[in-house]
Amino acid sequence: MKIDKVIIPVAGWGTRSLPATKNIPKEMLPVYNKPVVQYVVEEAIQSGIRSVVFITNRDKNVIEDHFDYNLQLEATLERNGKNEMLGKVREVAEMAHIISIRQKRALGLGHAVACAKDVCGNDDAFAVMVGDDLMFGMTPGIQQLMDVARSERKPVIGVMEVPQDEVSRYGIISGEETSPGIYKINRLVEKPRIHEAPSRLAIVGRYVLTPDIFDCLEKIQPGHGGEIQLTDGLQVLAEKSGMLAVKIRGTRFDAGNWAEYLTANIYFALQDEELHTDLVQRLKAYLH
Ligand code: UTP
Repeated sequence: MKIDKVIIPVAGWGTRSLPATKNIPKEMLPVYNKPVVQYVVEEAIQSGIRSVVFITNRDKNVIEDHFDYNLQLEATLERNGKNEMLGKVREVAEMAHIISIRQKRALGLGHAVACAKDVCGNDDAFAVMVGDDLMFGMTPGIQQLMDVARSERKPVIGVMEVPQDEVSRYGIISGEETSPGIYKINRLVEKPRIHEAPSRLAIVGRYVLTPDIFDCLEKIQPGHGGEIQLTDGLQVLAEKSGMLAVKIRGTRFDAGNWAEYLTANIYFALQDEELHTDLVQRLKAYLH
């Protein structure tokens, strides 16, 4: 199964993160020293993906620009002998082949994915990674799904166990565990009420899908919140061709949630040896 493209939807309004996101895309907010979306692209690249399809809108050009050369900046860094920083800046421009597609109206995550139909073609599977969902572990999250998709030759979605009182924030699956951490999906429900959730296995922003999803997305009506929900399209695909869920091993932060976003900043800054001691000391002064 060939998987060399990832769709990264970044065309939402980011209303939970206002006013920070009034003029800056949520996906460009920094987590320590890189924008959120760079971590997502790096996860894809580490998993062997080379082409990134951003689903974007008129206010999000800065995301494509981040993955392009900035010749004036590079010339300045070169002139000033700042070679280490020059290397880092160039590395971002060279990390992926970028394709950009406009979602002209933010009609939901399912609609955003459907916008990539023409670039995905009819043959190969592809990854979908939500542009504000950060994941870290020994093996990149999307790679864990790609490994199972390749061996089982089925669409695969990433799940993680969440506390009962958080199930209403997610799409939730029910399924049977066929081997440790792998589930055959029976049903998917978008943002169920707490007592109606079929499990605590929440869909997180990682998927490996086949082009059949595009027909499924065309068939569905707006669902929860009046949006074309990817989860509803996945339910149709699961019924049609079967679908697996993989419990992703790793740590996850939803950058659209302030507490998680801020924790992600501290988590990453603490990995920097030069910053670690100083940061811990400063934080201690605020923790009682
Ligand atoms: P979210 O629901 O987290 O993003 O979608 P949002 O709608 O921007 O955020 P809030 O709830 O208003 O704060 C997950 C990802 O899907 C993209 C978003 O940009 C985000 O990266 N998305 C969402 C789209 O590309 N198009 C849409 O129509 C909706």
